[in-house]
Amino acid sequence: MPRTDTTSAAPTPYLDGVAATDLARSYKHDLLAALAIEPGHHVLDVGCGPGTDLAALAAAAGPTGTAFGVDQDPDMVATARARMADRPNVQVCRADAHRLPFASNTIDRARTDRVLMHVADPAAVLAELHRVLRPAGLLTLAEPDWDTLAIDHPDLALSRAFTRYVAERVNHNHAVGRQLPRLAAHAGFTLRAVRNPAAVLTDFDTAETILGLRRTTARAVAAGYITASDARAWLEHLTTGTFFATTSFITVLAQSA
Ligand SMILES: C[S@@+](CC[C@H](N)C(=O)[O-])C[C@H]1O[C@@H](n2cnc3c(N)ncnc32)[C@H](O)[C@@H]1O
Repeated sequence: MPRTDTTSAAPTPYLDGVAATDLARSYKHDLLAALAIEPGHHVLDVGCGPGTDLAALAAAAGPTGTAFGVDQDPDMVATARARMADRPNVQVCRADAHRLPFASNTIDRARTDRVLMHVADPAAVLAELHRVLRPAGLLTLAEPDWDTLAIDHPDLALSRAFTRYVAERVNHNHAVGRQLPRLAAHAGFTLRAVRNPAAVLTDFDTAETILGLRRTTARAVAAGYITASDARAWLEHLTTGTFFATTSFITVLAQSA
């Protein structure tokens, strides 16, 4: 497994900031529609974070349905519970995605959103999702492919050093985005749609929100991928020049057998 310089638990302000971007709102909207949630459904959000998507799932499931949020991080669970306190059809529990606390064939719809890149064993999590979903149940997956991150800079070697750091050190499963179709099929799902609503970032501030460029550059320096003086020049250009960065972001709609 690649080494990692971050924990899997992202703090709430970071996740709230990402969720507020046009990019996130757009793909989250599309994936919610793809799930085709009906009143009365049991809907599961694995790695729900601070409850980012639970209100929308609960609204779609209606008062006779239930939105279940699962996260392994106690702070995320506490925040999600507090935010959903006035919604009787939301239940949030602390659990590991590799061992979901649900009986087999009891969930109608499930989703993971930027979670598999953090877990120890994405294939095992997908097998677990297949176990809990009812036959013909729908699942959406959304993961970046950090190996496709490209940031424009006149010094291509410097840009490569940064993206190599991101690919090699920032997440456990940095290329899980491209692996989603294969992993989902191997877990027994039928693929209904595979898309790449790629992140196209044309301003530094949005890129900073999503990628944490300053923080990540500092870590790349500490890890020996970039010198401190190169890092200063890199950030100087990114913050003052014309900005462009892009990365693949793979989404999958899958159906259990
Ligand atoms: C990048 S955040 C995404 C949160 C949320 N899905 C969203 O879109 O805002 C990843 C979340 O997955 C959770 N997570 C990571 N590994 C997990 C695991 N093995 N089991 C359950 N949750 C996990 C983290 O605690 C974190 O809240």
